[in-house]
Amino acid sequence: MRFAQFLLKNGSLAGIPKQVERFSKFSPSPLSMKQFIDFGSANACEKTSFVFLRQELPVRLANIMKEIDYLPDKLLGTPSVKLLTSWYSQSLMELVDFLEKDPDDKDVLKNFTQTLVNIRNRHNNVVPTMAQGVLEFKEAFGVDPVTNQNVQYFLDRFYMSRISTRMLMNQHTLIFDGSVNPAHPKHIGSIDPSCDVVEVVKDAYETSKMLCEQYYLTSPDMEIKEVNSKSPGQPIHIVYVPSHLYHMLFELFKNAMRATVETHETSPSLPPIKVRVSLGIEDLTIKMSDKGGGVPLRKIERLFSYMYTTAPSPVHVDMSRNAPLAGFGYGLPISRLYAKYFQGDLQLYSMEGYGTSAVIYLKALSSESVERLPVFNKSALRHYQSTIEADDWCMPSKEPKKLGKYERTQGEMVKHKNTF
Ligand SMILES: Nc1ncnc2c1ncn2[C@@H]1O[C@H](COP(=O)(O)OP(=O)(O)O)[C@@H](O)[C@H]1O
Ligand SMILES: [Mg+2]
Repeated sequence: MRFAQFLLKNGSLAGIPKQVERFSKFSPSPLSMKQFIDFGSANACEKTSFVFLRQELPVRLANIMKEIDYLPDKLLGTPSVKLLTSWYSQSLMELVDFLEKDPDDKDVLKNFTQTLVNIRNRHNNVVPTMAQGVLEFKEAFGVDPVTNQNVQYFLDRFYMSRISTRMLMNQHTLIFDGSVNPAHPKHIGSIDPSCDVVEVVKDAYETSKMLCEQYYLTSPDMEIKEVNSKSPGQPIHIVYVPSHLYHMLFELFKNAMRATVETHETSPSLPPIKVRVSLGIEDLTIKMSDKGGGVPLRKIERLFSYMYTTAPSPVHVDMSRNAPLAGFGYGLPISRLYAKYFQGDLQLYSMEGYGTSAVIYLKALSSESVERLPVFNKSALRHYQSTIEADDWCMPSKEPKKLGKYERTQGEMVKHKNTF
């Protein structure tokens, strides 16, 4: 492993490459919502969860560490990415220590929970740190479409892996810390078995509205409609992680509000943001539509790109120049990952000159909400080994094609021009 070279100097982490090889040979085991709930049901067994996690967490970490190792040298060599790999290595070693421990020993279980809390804290700043590494790399070497594609591929998988390991760690620490969440006694860890979707929409709207008013002194209203095709007239409930849903909605509301206020600066009133929630047999869909002027189609893909983001450097952020409603440009890509994590999606449809609709798709049935996890294998490897190939679609020429018989060659053109 390449990043191991510098880690080898650090004695305590000398075993890292061996452990990464060992655990990356296993594929991660995606859990379904039902399995997550079983881990936390009345007969929840801390020992079972411990035995599962002490193997599964190293497997998930090692799989993504293999991919980190295939990043371009120039990205891998940035101080930020080096720091990140040291966190991953440290956490992997701490988890591997538990493989030899006795699951029947109460102290082992207690130490394990504490270790998970430490790991979670150590990895708190992974997103801005990685963003900083990408920025340094981009500033030094520029962006080309192939690098953008490879970095996009990697970061989607890297952040997805992180969402999943944090989910596992949160579940274990919340369920087995011996207390009940007083505000939400029915929650199982971070999962609400009966998550009221409209309530989460309203919460996210209110918080975003508060921010919007602080900055712009005004904010658009919201109109919300609920269509429950399964039980008409009844509120829509799903088995979901409310904090994930809140995260996505909050990001979408901030974007919709900012676009609405900025395009209607001179109008006497603001058009409302319209939200529709519908529950079908397969999908739970949330559509948020604004009249914020929209985005041209050409730019839509870039809004989800980590490399093309217009975000300022996380360490050089000048808050006075940035609306609090906009962040590092990671709002959309990370929200889409949350949606995809349980087999959903997030898409933007825009009409430039008018407005944008953002749509969140979630699985209506908890049996279909299964983790979507990256695995390191030959197909993944191929993505990191792709070289610059010629595009297989014709590129429109910047100049109109010259078909005049005097304009075939440059020399002739000059001659042609000179005659006039
Ligand atoms: N509803 C919208 N209307 C118009 N532009 C939007 C909308 N949503 C997102 N955008 C554009 O996409 C960009 C990226 O959004 P996002 O990923 O949330 O990052 P940020 O808000 O931090 O810039 C925004 O800066 C904005 O230019
Ligand atoms: Mg945003």
